[in-house]
Amino acid sequence: MRYFIGNWKMFGVPKSINILNKINSFHSTDKNRNKYRVIITPPYTLIESYAKYFKNKKISIGSQNCYQKEQFSSNTAAVSPYMLRSVGAQYTLVGHSDNRGEGDTDSMLKDKVKHALKNNLKVVFCIGENKSEKKNKKTLSILKKQLIKVLEKNFNKNNIIVAYEPIWSIGTGKIPTVSELKKTTIHIKKVLESIFKKNSPAVLYGGSVDGSNVEMFKEIREIDGFLIGGASKSSKKFIDIIKNYYR
Ligand code: 13P
Repeated sequence: MRYFIGNWKMFGVPKSINILNKINSFHSTDKNRNKYRVIITPPYTLIESYAKYFKNKKISIGSQNCYQKEQFSSNTAAVSPYMLRSVGAQYTLVGHSDNRGEGDTDSMLKDKVKHALKNNLKVVFCIGENKSEKKNKKTLSILKKQLIKVLEKNFNKNNIIVAYEPIWSIGTGKIPTVSELKKTTIHIKKVLESIFKKNSPAVLYGGSVDGSNVEMFKEIREIDGFLIGGASKSSKKFIDIIKNYYR
């Protein structure tokens, strides 16, 4: 199974559902439709209405983040996994570099993963090195650390997806080379196998993925899909990624 996950970040109002309707129609009739899943993470404000609308359709709805407590608390503006699940979210991102940059620590991320899983949300756990870490050849050690500090053997790996998003690649048009990315993805899967003592969960790539560079990634069979930012805000761009991947 491959995954095409669209992360809308701070984008979208109720009528933006038109974008998803087009993606859903494409997916429903695509000859490759059984080979992949489409998941969209709109902002919190749209999760309930979109999840309701797409309930028996192809697209699944997820959240971009969740708070590191399970149900209710006195933290202003916080939204818990329980609350997300109650309005129909099926997935949540955890550890996006935007949120790590705003102060999410490994121990907060561990609590987020734990509570999300407990509330039947599937977790898309994001990791990635920054530009200077890459320059100093620290990529593999940084990724390993990000994984082992948060994921535990007793977490259900069937409900976890890992997304590798190099920070220097997000929104910049810069992407890793095929050989670099293959090596990094294999490394991530090895670390995950050692954490879970079984097969690795799915590992996605994210960072400036678009319809013109996705063909390059399909050579890397270890990559189980993509986490797509900018290009997920346009139905045409998002559909082009899927079309070109299977071409
Ligand atoms: P871009 O596809 O815009 O580079 O964003 C990637 C991302 O951060 C998805 O979570």
